[in-house]
Amino acid sequence: MASDIAVIGSGYVGTVVASSLAHLGNQVTVVETNLEKLVELRSGRSPIYEPGLEELLKAGIVSSRLTFTSDLAQAIRQSSVTFICVGTPRGPDGRSDMSAMRDVAQGIGEALDAYHVVVTKSTVPVGTSGWVRSIIEDALKPESRSRDLFDMVSNPEFLREGNAVIDFLQPDRVVLGSEEERALDLLTEIYRPIIENRVPGYTRMAPDVPLLRTRLATAELAKYASNAFLTVKISFANEMARLCDFVGADVMEVTKAMGLDVRIGPHFLSAGIGWGGSCFGKDVASLMATAQDYGYRAHLLEASVAINEVQRSLVFDRLLSELKTLSGRRVLVLGLAFKPGTDDIRDSSALEVARRLVRGGAIVTAHDPMVSDLPEDDAIRLVGDPLALDQPIDAVVLATEWPEYKNLDLVALRRQCRGDIFFDGRNAMVPAQVAAAGFRYLGVGRPDEQASVGSLPAHSLPTVVARATGTVRATHLDVPA
Ligand code: UGA
Repeated sequence: MASDIAVIGSGYVGTVVASSLAHLGNQVTVVETNLEKLVELRSGRSPIYEPGLEELLKAGIVSSRLTFTSDLAQAIRQSSVTFICVGTPRGPDGRSDMSAMRDVAQGIGEALDAYHVVVTKSTVPVGTSGWVRSIIEDALKPESRSRDLFDMVSNPEFLREGNAVIDFLQPDRVVLGSEEERALDLLTEIYRPIIENRVPGYTRMAPDVPLLRTRLATAELAKYASNAFLTVKISFANEMARLCDFVGADVMEVTKAMGLDVRIGPHFLSAGIGWGGSCFGKDVASLMATAQDYGYRAHLLEASVAINEVQRSLVFDRLLSELKTLSGRRVLVLGLAFKPGTDDIRDSSALEVARRLVRGGAIVTAHDPMVSDLPEDDAIRLVGDPLALDQPIDAVVLATEWPEYKNLDLVALRRQCRGDIFFDGRNAMVPAQVAAAGFRYLGVGRPDEQASVGSLPAHSLPTVVARATGTVRATHLDVPA
């Protein structure tokens, strides 16, 4: 059953939600107040890079199932369901800035004249749907106040950047929260093709998608709990990596052993320079603030954030200890995006690592396959080719595990270096291959002897010697055929 749907906000979540809902056959009106963005969208250009998104956007426009307007009231009146997808950025006190949400709620209340389901899709603090309901009620026209005009639903999104369309159309679960069965029934119908795994072009060999119908507050908290737990999992792996450094264990094998236990699972256990992105930090801060509101201190969340902070200093500390001073040292940072597959540098650990090196006096050159702009006052120099540097480098740091770095010509990279350190901040490289190119391989929670000949294919064995220093060096690059 197709529905008439309004989607408010054409940011990351809104564009994916609107294009995907149109793909399911619904009539979708996107409300966007930024007129430049509106022009772009109408011409089929996505405001963000996301695999598969522009195709859905264009198809929606061609089929006329996807239209765009700046007129909120009109969009509300011609639809029965509204998904609120506006931004809730982190405010200075760690809490989410809810001003856009307030304005939209006000606008919805003023426009409502027939039964409507209002869905909060943006990630919002627990209790927000109740707050939105009050604003809408207050804004209703006097003659509408006595009527049972709308219901609230919380439908958290679990989209990962770089995978958002698939995550929407083939999710692990759909969570719907409301105190009203009729509203849950309406949303269940909208999600039915997804739940029953019959989305054109997006079916998979898998059972039906689990649907969780629950209370408003439960749905709101489920979103935060999921993101927070993922940060805890990563921070746990990072803490184990620290212990691995002390005891000489390999965190990759430790987490592999852990992940083989089905109760733990293998995902989000990759140790590295820390988690980042626009969601994790903001959501954990918001959840801690909610806990604080009730007089509760969220110790585990605090620990997750604290470990992440320590992890972001790992590169700085290690390079300082290896190079003795960072002043005037030239460091090449490979990767600035908060994870591979995106140009997003918001709260990126990679960028933070580079900035800490700059603050320590290092001269930082950085390369990223997709990041081409940094704020003007950033002292980091961006280069288009990490193999065409005009100055010799003291240390290389891999900060974002882009697949292309795994195939980088390490010998050519080594030739540009006057120092031999290669810090693999994501444990993404084969240590022995890095060592074979003449680098001293440093990983996160990996013993130095990881760079042993044992993990190299036989035809590319270098002569690896000298463990006296506690590190492994390739003495020359002669590779027997
Ligand atoms: C995250 C969640 O994974 C989504 O489910 C959620 O919907 C989204 O936030 C959101 O709230 O909108 P995303 O921010 O796209 O998605 O990024 P992730 O893929 O989760 O990665 C987050 C960070 O964790 C990255 O910096 C990544 O490098 C780091 N990470 C991830 C690790 O350090 N180790 C790991 O094992 C996995």
